Amino acid sequence: MCGIIGYIGKKQNVIELLINGLKSLEYRGYDSAGIAYLEQDKIKVVKALGKIASLEEKTKNLNILSTLGIGHTRWATHGKPSDENSHPHKVGHVTLIHNGIIENYQVLKEMLLQEGYTFQSETDTEIVAGLLDFYLKQENNKLKLIQQVINLLKGSFALGIIFDDDTNHLYAVRQDSPLILGTAENMNFIASDIPAIIKYTNQYILLENKDIAILSEDSIQIFGENLLKVERKLLTSSLSIEEARKTPYEHFMLKEIMEEPSLLEKIFSIYGFGTPSFLEKIPDLSKYKRIHIVACGSAMYAGLVGKSLMEEYADIETSVYIASEYRYQKNFYQEDTLVIFISQSGETADTIACLRLVKKLGIDTLALVNVYGSTIAREVDQVLYLYAGVEIAVATTKAYLLQVTLLSMLVYRTSIAKDLLNKENQEQIKESILHITKILEEFLNKEFRAEASKIIAKASDVFFLGRGIDYAISLEGSLKLKEISYLHSEAYQAGELKHGTISLVEEGTPVITVITDHRLMDKTMSNLKEVKARGAYNVLITTKDLIKNHDGIDLEIAIDEVHPLLQPLLIVPILQMIAYHTAKIRGCDIDQPRNLAKSVTVE
Ligand code: AGP
Repeated sequence: MCGIIGYIGKKQNVIELLINGLKSLEYRGYDSAGIAYLEQDKIKVVKALGKIASLEEKTKNLNILSTLGIGHTRWATHGKPSDENSHPHKVGHVTLIHNGIIENYQVLKEMLLQEGYTFQSETDTEIVAGLLDFYLKQENNKLKLIQQVINLLKGSFALGIIFDDDTNHLYAVRQDSPLILGTAENMNFIASDIPAIIKYTNQYILLENKDIAILSEDSIQIFGENLLKVERKLLTSSLSIEEARKTPYEHFMLKEIMEEPSLLEKIFSIYGFGTPSFLEKIPDLSKYKRIHIVACGSAMYAGLVGKSLMEEYADIETSVYIASEYRYQKNFYQEDTLVIFISQSGETADTIACLRLVKKLGIDTLALVNVYGSTIAREVDQVLYLYAGVEIAVATTKAYLLQVTLLSMLVYRTSIAKDLLNKENQEQIKESILHITKILEEFLNKEFRAEASKIIAKASDVFFLGRGIDYAISLEGSLKLKEISYLHSEAYQAGELKHGTISLVEEGTPVITVITDHRLMDKTMSNLKEVKARGAYNVLITTKDLIKNHDGIDLEIAIDEVHPLLQPLLIVPILQMIAYHTAKIRGCDIDQPRNLAKSVTVE
């Protein structure tokens, strides 16, 4: 999704500040970028299609000290990626950047066209700048003017606004699309996310929906939808400048995978996993007769792993839904239904829409979220944070793993409350908690080999197989591979492949199979022999107790066995590493895969 940064403060090299801020937002995904800055009482705009390097090229000879500027990375929604469609948009006396979608921009555009306005772009954003300029003629109070205009808009918008006749102020608006304000000595910022400003400050304010902010060099004023002043909490980000850098790793994605062992340790400790305090920190879900899990993409796949565990160990019927479907389909809520929302960003538009739908029905809601204070985190009845830290690589790894971890904890907490886990199981789980981070750390640092990736990188089709929970895990393995290596891949229930898709298996087709469930080992092994007979290159990902140098397997990757409730936490990083190394061999843009955005804040 688009990235926003804005600055107002003491004179400095604003162009460099804006461009560096945009670089730290690249992970949000974009296809063009632009900046606007004050120079000798004029607002100048520079925009460039493609990567930020193109924008740097266009501005490299501009050595200007300025007090005001805004910058934007655009993930195209209305209008193809192009210079004209890039932000900032300047119409008359108004320069503006926007993240979100204005659903009713066409009718507003028609009105402006009839008033003699012309537009350079195909975007909805330019219409907002036009509206502000149009009504500026009648209303010079910028606060009233902004409210008058945003009341005309339908959709989501985070706006950064500069008025030619008021360059002592920077204006900002938040409606659904996230926007923060940063504050430091003699300077204030607007930004989509903390990394853009962490070099200058870790003090930030989360704007609420319909907030209008007026920033000057030394003040921040925030007004609610009734234009009364409101106070918003000043927060301190834990993000360090080092965290916002990928060193010593080549990619953020690798760095974030390698953080996983310590993050498991951290989340276990925060929630007291394996200690008595755990019972207070993780909610007991035993009163619910049915659980819906609603999410998108990888978060939904985490939900499928959670379903398998919730039904197996906590004996609660659990259904998993894709948010963009859930909001339009007929849903059935028994009494005591709980809906769990999973979202790294807490800003995914479809997931937010489902949360608001379910809350209107008075159904209990719980969310597993990474970004503190995000929309989902603030609107849900109860939130459990992932504590993954900022996840900068677009393709999620650590956050997905911690989503699965939190689901395992919820299952464990509930199974204890329902007295469904015998002492032996509880002991095994406690033992697993003690050793799992060390096992993962050892594996990632010493044992992982990238042989499989060398074969996979040359393929045109890749299949992932699994049964039950192993199928749920393989779905994420397949998506990770697709996202970052641009290879076609599908995850299939192991028993289902032969009902059609096996026709695609030919000599050398990589088939990656996950087997951790003892009960299904033999059945799944026969599926592997079926694909081997058709020429597949079989990669088996399993646990060391199950590995038996089976014939028909070309490469086995095995990791220590832990209790099944936690086993996925050791298998998932293997799949993530396979995807990472494959993408690296294929020379892909691993941290910012084409077309992808870190948080899909549009529907
Ligand atoms: C990114 O790697 C994921 N594949 C993507 O599908 C993500 O899980 C999805 O967009 C949901 O995002 P969220 O967790 O921020 O809601």
